[in-house]
Parts: sequence; structure tokens; C-alpha cells
Amino acid sequence: MPISHRKPAAPSDDKRWKIVETRMRRHGDRPQALIEALHAAQEAFGYLDSDALEFVGDTLGVPHSRVYGVATFYSFFTLKPQGEHTCVVCTGTACYINGAKEILGGLERRLHVRPKETTADGKVSVLTARCLGACSLAPAVIVDGDVQGKVDAGELVAQLEAM
Ligand code: FES
Repeated sequence: MPISHRKPAAPSDDKRWKIVETRMRRHGDRPQALIEALHAAQEAFGYLDSDALEFVGDTLGVPHSRVYGVATFYSFFTLKPQGEHTCVVCTGTACYINGAKEILGGLERRLHVRPKETTADGKVSVLTARCLGACSLAPAVIVDGDVQGKVDAGELVAQLEAM
């Protein structure tokens, strides 16, 4: 049976996406090709950002939470921006109304870091995701590969400050 999820359009008309798409197709555009596809994207662009992660996930039918989880867990993947630790904050609707705004506000106030930035000491990078596919856990974040749900902004900031 062919996989029936709809394939997304590449994030831009940059030719390198064609290389990534070809590599994914060669592996049948299946979830099992996730690591291979992330390697392909990293080879093509030198790093992985939110656009690349979500495009790969949507093409292969892998939930964003898993894509971000894998990409932030394995040290052979280079995220952009690249701090020692990575915190992905979901800003999808469910998370946004349940506290993502407070989380981002707390990170900016206490760690002086905004999405797509890294703290001045190079410790923590912040990325955002459109929806991690874990809406019942809103607000959700992923810290170094670990999905955390029903996050308290103050506790998260304290956890990241201690890193
Ligand atoms: S909106 Fe955050 S997990 Fe879906």
C-alpha cells in the first residue's frame, strides 16, 4: 500500500531541496527514512532549521515532535542556531493559548534569548515549531530531544538557566 499522506511543497525554490526530496523518495518517503533524510538536508544546507525539520517530517509522515526530538537528541545533527542545548518551543494554536507566549517571554526576560537565537554564553538555542503534534500536552517544548508537556514557563526557564 502506498503511503497516503500529502507531500508538502519545499520551503523555497532553492535547488538543494530537490536533492533532499530525491533522497527521501529513494527511501520511499517513509517514516523509516527520517535519519537518512535529516542527514541529506544537513549535507545540502550545512545545518537543520525549523523549515528543514518540518519539511522532512511532513514529507515522510513523521510527527514534528519526533523530528525535533531526533534532531535535538543526536549530536551529529547541527541545528541552526547551534547552542550546547536546544529548546524547541511549540507556537501552534493550542500551545500558544496555553502558555507558549509566557514561555517565550520568560526566555527573553531571563535568558535574553529570542527564537532562532542562542544565549550569549552559547549554552541554549531557542527554536520554534508550528505544531509538535502533541497538542493535548500544550504548552509543549522539546529540550535536547525530550518532549515536555504542560510546561510551566518559570520552571522551564529555571531548568534552562541551570544548564
Ligand atoms: S500546537 Fe503545540 S503541540 Fe500542537
